[in-house]
Amino acid sequence: MKVQGEPMRSIWVEADGWTVGIIDQTRLPHAFVKAELATAEEAGHAIRTMRVRGAPLIGATAAYGVCLAMREDASDAALERALTMLRATRPTAVNLHWALEGMRRVLTPLRPPERVAGAYRHAAALCDEDVAINRAIGGHALKLFQDAWDRKGRKGRLNVLTHCNAGWLATVDWGTALAPVYLAHDAGMPVHVWVDETRPRNQGAVLTAWELGQHGVAHTVIADNVGGHLMQHGDVDLCIVGTDRTTAHGDVANKIGTYLKALAAKDNGVSFYVALPSPTVDWTLQDGVRQIPIEQRDGTELSDVTGLLPSGEVATVRITPPGSAAANYAFDVTPARLVTALITERGVCPASEEGLLSLFPERRQA
Ligand code: MRU
Repeated sequence: MKVQGEPMRSIWVEADGWTVGIIDQTRLPHAFVKAELATAEEAGHAIRTMRVRGAPLIGATAAYGVCLAMREDASDAALERALTMLRATRPTAVNLHWALEGMRRVLTPLRPPERVAGAYRHAAALCDEDVAINRAIGGHALKLFQDAWDRKGRKGRLNVLTHCNAGWLATVDWGTALAPVYLAHDAGMPVHVWVDETRPRNQGAVLTAWELGQHGVAHTVIADNVGGHLMQHGDVDLCIVGTDRTTAHGDVANKIGTYLKALAAKDNGVSFYVALPSPTVDWTLQDGVRQIPIEQRDGTELSDVTGLLPSGEVATVRITPPGSAAANYAFDVTPARLVTALITERGVCPASEEGLLSLFPERRQA
């Protein structure tokens, strides 16, 4: 994607060949600030504090965290230490485990002197794979957008509702749920996005709105509870979201509030699609509600709100009364029965074990 006309990914290796560059997403949309990661600890800190976030980007950053660890010490013990530290950064997105297991698989057979180069090679390949996956998801989802647009008689605009940020900032490039939005817009379809603000971190209002604005896509930020009302009035043609972990049976963990949107979509006969890169499938799990670990973050993310003052200064203010407890659940699980279809890099399938296995037959147990 482009920022102020310049092609840009969300993570890269700097010109020195080893420092890792990121966009500090905690500074958006008020400032576009790049940051450098020079140690595995800095990579872990960036993930925990959500300077980088979004399941695929968490995985990519963790992979580069292993590269940085290997530069300091490429021993078996250091590799294990880095994997353990990075694995503990955030609990829900399974891409983190997928990326770290990939690094372990590639690095373990190498002799320590070969590990730095091997680590950077694999991390770069993982990033390129993410870009290709997302572009493919975008292509498959675009057909669904075109069908919806045809059903509307190609009149007015195609109203798409999304939750959280599943755009290029959440991945290495393109995004998952937003990839078809960009493709549709570029193909001349009058697509308009209802952007859920996504309390408490406001990834919709802050990141999705910024991304769409950069690309010139028409969008409107709405409070989290507006979606149901819009669907009742026929103002949403389809919903599309990303996911942090999807079970082998098609239950979908995504940003808190996704489940309520899916319920409202079902009640109103609106299609509810999930853009699902295969590294986000947890093939070991069946029951999402019971088995997917749900991150709980600090209550201050809920009680405190950050924004721009008229003076141009960014400030954080408390909105809850002193003494009120705040419970900050970061994700919820949408059961497969509420998902119209999963959109993967291999195509579109029902949200079910059979659906997923039809696209990924190599996962069938003998
Ligand atoms: O807490 P975050 O911002 O990391 O949560 C991100 C999401 O929930 C995204 O929808 C998900 O990671 C899919 S991103 C392609």
